[in-house]
Amino acid sequence: MSAETAAPYLARLGAAQRRLAEHAARPLPDGLTDPDPGASERWEAGQVWAHLAEFPGYWLEQIRTLLERRSGGVEEPIPFGRTKADAERIAAIERERRTDPAELLRRVTAQIGEVSTALTDLSDDAWTARGLHPSIGEMGLPAIVERFIVAHLAEHADQLDGLELVTLEEIRGAAERIRGVALHTPLLRWDDSTWLKPESLQPVGAFKMRGAYNTVASLTDAERARGVVTYSSGNHAQAVARAARLLGTDATIVMPEDAPPIKVAGVRRDGAEILFAGRSGEERHAVALDLVEREGRVMIEPYDDRRIIAGQATCGLEIAEDLPQVTSVLIPVSGGGLSSGVAAAIRALAPNARVIGVEPELAADAQASLAAGEIVRWDGSLTTRTMADGLRVEKLGWLPFLHLRRFMDEIVTVSEEEMAEAMRQLAARARLVVEPSGAAAMAAHLSGAAPQPGGDDHRVIVISGGNVDPALFAKILAG
Ligand SMILES: Cc1ncc(COP(=O)(O)O)c(C=O)c1O
Repeated sequence: MSAETAAPYLARLGAAQRRLAEHAARPLPDGLTDPDPGASERWEAGQVWAHLAEFPGYWLEQIRTLLERRSGGVEEPIPFGRTKADAERIAAIERERRTDPAELLRRVTAQIGEVSTALTDLSDDAWTARGLHPSIGEMGLPAIVERFIVAHLAEHADQLDGLELVTLEEIRGAAERIRGVALHTPLLRWDDSTWLKPESLQPVGAFKMRGAYNTVASLTDAERARGVVTYSSGNHAQAVARAARLLGTDATIVMPEDAPPIKVAGVRRDGAEILFAGRSGEERHAVALDLVEREGRVMIEPYDDRRIIAGQATCGLEIAEDLPQVTSVLIPVSGGGLSSGVAAAIRALAPNARVIGVEPELAADAQASLAAGEIVRWDGSLTTRTMADGLRVEKLGWLPFLHLRRFMDEIVTVSEEEMAEAMRQLAARARLVVEPSGAAAMAAHLSGAAPQPGGDDHRVIVISGGNVDPALFAKILAG
């Protein structure tokens, strides 16, 4: 019975442990956290880690002492706990704040293991124990476990997430960098309450110009002299090829054999070298990493990079500037660079607007990831079923996931036929040539997958790209 009581806590402890392990595997971020809930502390990442490495054990000890005193006959509720000003707590954080997070992760993991075992072993009676905290007052054991251990771990994992999010300053910096190269696309009126943001009009026919140019322009001269490399099904490939040419470096792009000919031709026009390889995005990533290793090239990631996210976010910056009264934004999601950047910009500048992600039903891994609270992978054999070749990535990038979990309201899905219908309507009514991936958000609007806006609403639909092969376009138009 009490193993059953413990089970939901154990699942969440495991989830927190995995989140922390992801953070520990990456470079320590700069900056200060958001203030601690209920206090004004703003910490460096090192202080967060130092605290994480001490508190689960501390609270487990408190719980054990409480239960011992109770079984020794002390009247409930039994005093326990400490305040944030506790001298030992402060000293422990100060002492360990420069310790390697990998080492601190080992300590947190060991303590989470001990907590899990202890909770599993608690009797039903023990779960009814009551304590008295100096500032909160009387609490039952489930509330103590929840507040001081389980939710507490998630809160500090949230703080570490927060340090990884792109800032408005980075987004504004990207806007400066791409000025005159990427278009500030107009908002086209679709109907009384709906506007289109036609990224299909960008120089390479997709929003990807924003992030790719921002990233290549952010490199040092020495880095640019080494050349760049990326892997992409097509639009990021074209954007990196163009950015490399404009900024005087050379690019190698790893592309799938079945990339749309129009995208292959675009890359060639800008003089980049193409390497056809890999059955999945993951395999192509490995080939590109090999070129980093062997040729010293600099990797321009398609979505899992803060310079890419900040660049794509300029699309959201423009939406908020041009339509400050925006109430919802519909946006396609694949690796998540575009949606996470736009969601970050919209949340900062139009905080009441809803941001709704859209995926093909056939490649709905991001929707599954938000539902699960962790990144869920769909195999390439599944995601490649959709005709939306820009939305076939197997899983969200880690940084995009952190942004989407924080800023995205929901993710909805659309069918292949709904994307085709959106392409037809965009061609006929807005005179826009749009590729399937670029029409996904419109498909969610037209099909009702994203509920229609009401009278006072101001909805923006991001039309993310227009690189569709003429033969496919003709076939779709013909219905
Ligand atoms: C036209 C189009 N729309 C949307 C996306 C999805 O962008 P992201 O991978 O940043 O989620 C892509 C990605 O290639 C794309 O080419």
